[in-house]
Amino acid sequence: MASTSPRVLSGIQPTAGSFHLGNYLGAVRQWVALQESHDAFYMVVDLHAITVPQDPAELRANTRLAAAQLLAAGLDPERCTLFVQSHVPEHAQLAWIMNCLAGFGEASRMTQFKDKSAKHGAGNATVGLFTYPILQVADILLYQANQVPVGEDQRQHIELTRDLADRFNGRFGETFTVPEPYILKETAKIYDLQDPSIKMSKSASTPKGLINLLDDPKTTAKKVKSAVTDTDTVIKYDTENKPGVSNLLSIYSTLTGRTIAELEAEYEGKMYGALKTDLADVMVEFVTPFRTRTQQYLDDPETLDSLLAKGAEKARAVAAETLATAYDKVGLLPAKH
Ligand code: TRP
Repeated sequence: MASTSPRVLSGIQPTAGSFHLGNYLGAVRQWVALQESHDAFYMVVDLHAITVPQDPAELRANTRLAAAQLLAAGLDPERCTLFVQSHVPEHAQLAWIMNCLAGFGEASRMTQFKDKSAKHGAGNATVGLFTYPILQVADILLYQANQVPVGEDQRQHIELTRDLADRFNGRFGETFTVPEPYILKETAKIYDLQDPSIKMSKSASTPKGLINLLDDPKTTAKKVKSAVTDTDTVIKYDTENKPGVSNLLSIYSTLTGRTIAELEAEYEGKMYGALKTDLADVMVEFVTPFRTRTQQYLDDPETLDSLLAKGAEKARAVAAETLATAYDKVGLLPAKH
């Protein structure tokens, strides 16, 4: 990848186990596309994961599982840099510098922290959860990323990144690239199959409304066939009046690359059952090879771990240079070699 291409960087937490269709269509698919046009850095953010309690064995397994799924989805270590955040110690090191630049009030205004800490009982949240956005700032600035592909829920963290980059540059001299958010398209939003008024998500969805990519394909087909539609019979994209049918059409369209209009024409006069049966087939065709590829990486952890080690080495070369500059600008005395 030519280093003149704009650089993108993004991260995914290794907490979900199986990716679900919403993760995949909403984010991971875009990551795969961006590696063709951008100098792309993607990481599994295990340091972010431990801001809430994790079982150690599960965390380790989920970190490999997340990496395996990213590779199975089409990330290619020849075309992008894929690594595990904790393999690059510069993340924690730059985060400290950023912690010392960020205001307490500023960090207190992060809405995701407020939501998450409320869930755990405000006083029980860790300091790590409080500074989670600052670690994310370090993730991004270390690589001088131009764009950060994330969902709408991350916009405030990218704003904070821009503010802190500007502040550092203003105080210590031009050091960091100020990144732009690259907010993933609303159209890629996938809704719960049982309750199309809520986003498909691990935490909010009902088990029957959530498509896990690593589920047995038979289960997946069954979930599609029992998706909620409406009492009407017309197959039409109308998110207002037909959210269930519209959700099925947008999943169908994104997985096959066919337009919604094409699908509406094909299903004109047909029953919901026909749409669901066909979409179930499309889905099974998609998840079956995804599962197989993920399993192949998991069956060969040596290969997976060495891919990740190579990714970390590539990432570190960039991160170490940025960190050295930042340390120097701040006035830390260099260690004598
Ligand atoms: N906070 C992000 C999320 O939950 C994950 C993340 C961590 C991230 N570091 C990042 C995303 C850096 C983009 C860039 O989705």
